[in-house]
Amino acid sequence: MSPETQAATIGRPPGFVFRNSNSGRSGVHVSELYCEGVSVAALAKRYGTPLYVYSGSMIRERYETFDHAFRDLPHTVCYSVKANSNLSILRLLAKVGCGFDVVSGGELLRVLAAGRRAAKRVVFSGVGKTQEELRAALKAGILLFNVESESELSAVAACAQGSRKNAPVALRVNPDVAAETHPYISTGLRQHKFGVPLREARFLYAKAAGMPYLSVRGVSVHIGSQITDVAPFRDALSRVAELVRELRRDGHQIDYVDAGGGLGIAYDKPEPSDFSRCAASYAQAITEPLRSLGVRLLLEPGRSILGPAGVLITSVIYEKANDGKRFLVVDAAMNDLLRPALYGAYHEIIPVRSNPVARSQVVDVVGPVCETGDFLARDRELPEVKERDLLAVLDTGAYGMVLASNYNTRPRPAEVLVTGKSVRVIRRREKISDLLRLEL
Ligand code: LLP
Repeated sequence: MSPETQAATIGRPPGFVFRNSNSGRSGVHVSELYCEGVSVAALAKRYGTPLYVYSGSMIRERYETFDHAFRDLPHTVCYSVKANSNLSILRLLAKVGCGFDVVSGGELLRVLAAGRRAAKRVVFSGVGKTQEELRAALKAGILLFNVESESELSAVAACAQGSRKNAPVALRVNPDVAAETHPYISTGLRQHKFGVPLREARFLYAKAAGMPYLSVRGVSVHIGSQITDVAPFRDALSRVAELVRELRRDGHQIDYVDAGGGLGIAYDKPEPSDFSRCAASYAQAITEPLRSLGVRLLLEPGRSILGPAGVLITSVIYEKANDGKRFLVVDAAMNDLLRPALYGAYHEIIPVRSNPVARSQVVDVVGPVCETGDFLARDRELPEVKERDLLAVLDTGAYGMVLASNYNTRPRPAEVLVTGKSVRVIRRREKISDLLRLEL
């Protein structure tokens, strides 16, 4: 890849950009990856690798762009905490007025720790909420329970009655709309475990309305994640709009439509520098079917806000070749970034220091974990790099660190948040002693 292409690939102000650095020996012009005003190589030197690096300005800007795209309708953006749940990131988003979508008592606690007042902008989704989780959410006074089954409806009602608190509920409906994405993250078809079938919805709403301490407030839907064509969103929301009309005719008060998350990002192409265009066409697809309903729209984006705002920095431990097949063994593995192993996901990988005269090579970029599935890239054309050189794995701000594990007793990476020239460690690197602490 030429430096020009690299600069274009990652020219994503205000986040990650290449800057010319001193010419190397022989006067070769070298450029170096920066996160905002900070050299990524300097971060790696100071905090070690593997290292997650996030751009605070980019997170804020993407949130604002997304929010702005929906300006025509009353709405609340409830960032989906599962995408990246670091407390500092939640705090950053809470400060700019963002709400949150949580799927566990743990995520709720994180949101409360990030800002107690954010509770009134929290929606609680998920098919398996426990009594304990429901009680905690009732106590916190969240905005909406997205209920996913008849059994859960009864559980919420029982909890609400027990705590003498009204529970605001929406039913998550399964619209039976196909969305093109990886089968593991598609959720809107009837064979998926999520939501209740549309045709049963009216019956369940009637049931909910008859339960004390439940207030029916909305309808929710989420068809899957990493969806780059907006048509399925429009289809799903058209079905939801039809349901809202029916429910109102049945006498229910429907104030909210929660459209879920799912807007994809361009992992394999340079991100259109213009996120606002993507967000605008997504917003149009979602809002058009709802326009005449006078509802408040709730949105649960995760990846589209955080994905491109983070990179994983790793360093090359060894180069090796087995019968001509070439490998770069790096210090980040499937335990640090699971997406390639789990979904065969593509992440762009680039050298942190680009050298325009470097020849290209085709390699597998693999980690030290003892599994053949432990790869970050396969048969990837990369500029030649040497042992100890740094690589950046792009678009890892969402579903990166949250999916990290301690497999092979590997401590999870540190995370740093950069804003301008300021750097904050927002999670320190784990030590082996952290891993052993809970074992008796
Ligand atoms: N709302 C609900 C109810 C969800 O289940 C999800 C994601 C979201 C919102 C946020 O979706 P987003 O805007 O981030 O697409 N680990 C997978 C992604 C799993 C997504 C699960 N649900 C990956 O790495 O691609």
